[in-house]
Amino acid sequence: MMDSATQPMEQLAQGLRRSKIVKFCDYASQRYAGVHLKELVVSEVGPARELRVAGHDLVNFGFDSFLGLDQHPRVKKALAAGAEKWGTQFGASRAFASCQPEYELEAKIARWIGTESALIYPSVTLANLGALPALVEPQDLLVVDEFAHNSIVEGAKLASANGVRIVTFAHNDASSLQRVLCDSKPYRHAVVAIDGVYSMSGAIAAMPELDLVARQHNAVLYVDDAHATAVLGEQGRGTVKESLGDYENVIVVGCLSKACSVFGAFIACSSEMQRLLKMRSNTFIFGGPVPPPYLEAVSTVIDILTSGEYDSLRSQLDCNIARMVAGLSRHDLVIQGGRSPIISILVGDEEATFLAGKFLFDRGYYVQSVTFPAVRYHAGVLRIQVNSNHRAEDIDGLVNTFGELLDIIPLPRSADIDSQAA
Ligand SMILES: Cc1ncc(COP(=O)(O)O)c(C=O)c1O
Repeated sequence: MMDSATQPMEQLAQGLRRSKIVKFCDYASQRYAGVHLKELVVSEVGPARELRVAGHDLVNFGFDSFLGLDQHPRVKKALAAGAEKWGTQFGASRAFASCQPEYELEAKIARWIGTESALIYPSVTLANLGALPALVEPQDLLVVDEFAHNSIVEGAKLASANGVRIVTFAHNDASSLQRVLCDSKPYRHAVVAIDGVYSMSGAIAAMPELDLVARQHNAVLYVDDAHATAVLGEQGRGTVKESLGDYENVIVVGCLSKACSVFGAFIACSSEMQRLLKMRSNTFIFGGPVPPPYLEAVSTVIDILTSGEYDSLRSQLDCNIARMVAGLSRHDLVIQGGRSPIISILVGDEEATFLAGKFLFDRGYYVQSVTFPAVRYHAGVLRIQVNSNHRAEDIDGLVNTFGELLDIIPLPRSADIDSQAA
């Protein structure tokens, strides 16, 4: 018998423990033990975003169910009816067969979003990993916003492995995009990949400016609109239609799990682009499909989004966002976002970010403490996600608790930042 230290599996694990990211995570969980809050086990949820963690009751300001549709009776009923009719899964890759609800849902998504066609994937991550390498070849250029979501970055790595040139441009900066496209010529086509809403800061893409530059340089925009689907734009169509008016030069990715609160993702595009992606997108061809019960539930979600009910859910959400932003502004905090349900409060130092999150947690409010590598080093934030079914008194409670937090941890104030900038 080999001793365990020389076993191949242990050697593999040893090598992984030496990798940068594992070292950082191990360091963070030891250094900040007790305040790290990264492996919460939730035992119960309630209708107004209540959360129970290890016997501790909290109000949940850390999840993506922006419209509260995860608890909607019609959506739950559709899911159950879908399981009754189709069973729990449709066990074939879509390269071989699709169930009828999948085709119907793709047509329904396209009608809702306003494109000719749509293609469903099991997640936005799988859409980005499949579609980005599918859209470009070695003569082409893939341009990525420096803060684009990790799944865009990983999709770009796959394209790079296929011989495609990848370049980045400064976050949300049309003049940087212009320079990068000029400097990267010649190329056959270019695809510019951005987020519609940046998930850590809540920043919204400067879409008209980026689209103009893209068109001037024979480039197409690829917009990961995961955090805008169902919460921004008319009927929740997202950022693109609202800011550009059409999808002529855009391929858009939408999310079916965040605000839609079900499961899956879609790419909305022309019929021809859909046909091409079906043949070239490996995660579509070689992966399994979204289970039919979820397709039925998404279909009901779209019925809700395209009905009068959406207006009341959305106005409740907008009202809650405005209440949160107004309350936090009274503390003069440095607020990022706030035009979408993501509101990030700058803390800065990693330890202070974890301690601040734990302070709120101990007083009954869960928000996410976000640090490097999700944001820049020393640019940690408390990320608040507002939902339509948060109660006004819970929003006020969180705001007041931020007031108490300021007596313990001195967070950056917007007045200080303004005076430094002046
Ligand atoms: C912009 C963006 N894209 C993709 C994802 C991942 O989406 P999914 O869970 O559907 O893979 C996220 C998740 O937060 C995101 O913010």
